[in-house]
Amino acid sequence: MKSPENLLKSFFAERIKGLVQSDIRRMSRECERLGGINLGQGICDQPVPDSVKEAAKSAIDRDRSIYSKFEGIDPLRERIAAKMADYNGIRCDPDREVVVTVGSTGGFVAACLAFVEPGDEVILFSPFYGYHRNILSLCEATLRFVTLHPPNWSFDPADLERSFTEKTAAVIINTPSNPCGKVFSRQELILIASLCQKHGALAITDEIYEYILYGEHRHVSIGSLPGMEERTITLSGFSKTYNMTGWRLGYAVGAAPLMEKIGLLNDLLYICAPTPLQHAVMAAFDLPPSYYDQLCADYARKLEMTCAACDEAGIRPLLPQGAYYLLADISGLGLSDDKEAANFLLGRAGVASVPGTSFYADPEDGRQQVRLCFAKQDGDLEEACRRLRGIRTARP
Ligand SMILES: Cc1ncc(COP(=O)(O)O)c(C=O)c1O
Repeated sequence: MKSPENLLKSFFAERIKGLVQSDIRRMSRECERLGGINLGQGICDQPVPDSVKEAAKSAIDRDRSIYSKFEGIDPLRERIAAKMADYNGIRCDPDREVVVTVGSTGGFVAACLAFVEPGDEVILFSPFYGYHRNILSLCEATLRFVTLHPPNWSFDPADLERSFTEKTAAVIINTPSNPCGKVFSRQELILIASLCQKHGALAITDEIYEYILYGEHRHVSIGSLPGMEERTITLSGFSKTYNMTGWRLGYAVGAAPLMEKIGLLNDLLYICAPTPLQHAVMAAFDLPPSYYDQLCADYARKLEMTCAACDEAGIRPLLPQGAYYLLADISGLGLSDDKEAANFLLGRAGVASVPGTSFYADPEDGRQQVRLCFAKQDGDLEEACRRLRGIRTARP
């Protein structure tokens, strides 16, 4: 007779069998249990701009509470199209080429369901964002990985060329990237674009951290490059730029025939993005340019603080070019691997991180790394850094 556990497992669909709780969530739960400071999960706890909060209250008071069109409310799509032209260099028709999604993740799910057949090859850079890998796996894509090499997170062009085959449906770009903070250069994107065109592949690009950039690094959207307008789905959203990860608002932009399918899937999966919040988030587009300068300056300061604490702790930061994560080399701690290091940091310093192996196609690449997220209120980050600095003396 089947044990109850095996009986229950027999109900699982094949496509979810590999799905397990991520190290990120595991570390967060453990951190909560121990009352630690969570630099593991990318939960950005900065406040939402006041003008956007006021707009949300007003939208709720005005009963903007019913389903919107599945592609989102007209004025928001117009504001998104204007921003795409100004910031990303992508001209799009707000009526046919923009869909407001349930977070950029909702757009990614819709794009994968719409354009990736089971068995299609999809190229993913490693280290990668786990949701990209897992959603593609749910869609039964065959993944081909291209390694990004620290410290600059460059890739070997020959490696990329070899990864493209006649079965390649899409390449996934994430710039600035989570977890390593790579900002793809124009030259790199030109190469990716030429390979997409040569092999008839789509580019699906997640640009959720597009405003968070350090030093000389500038954001370039592959969808703005010649010949890419008809083969790029650009995904972005409001979660990271305006500290509203729980509002679940994002958008997808691309050529009309592609966006028509994304809109239909958005309807089927979610009906629409939360309507009152669609009304509210338009206020974000009225924020002055200084808002974005301040965002970068604040994160640059938090990054510097975190790097200094890592240095003192004997952990070597691998500098990000954008986004708000830091991969750090823990080999100096003299522990056996990333999991032991993450447990040690949490147990001894009360600071949660994420073991590096969870981000790599080849776990060996992350065996001596942990990821820290520094999108934290100053007080918490200062305390986390103070604790990290203290571990030099606590080392086994
Ligand atoms: C690379 C990347 N894409 C997307 C998301 C989620 O974005 P959204 O809240 O718009 O779904 C995250 C969140 O951590 C992320 O790191």
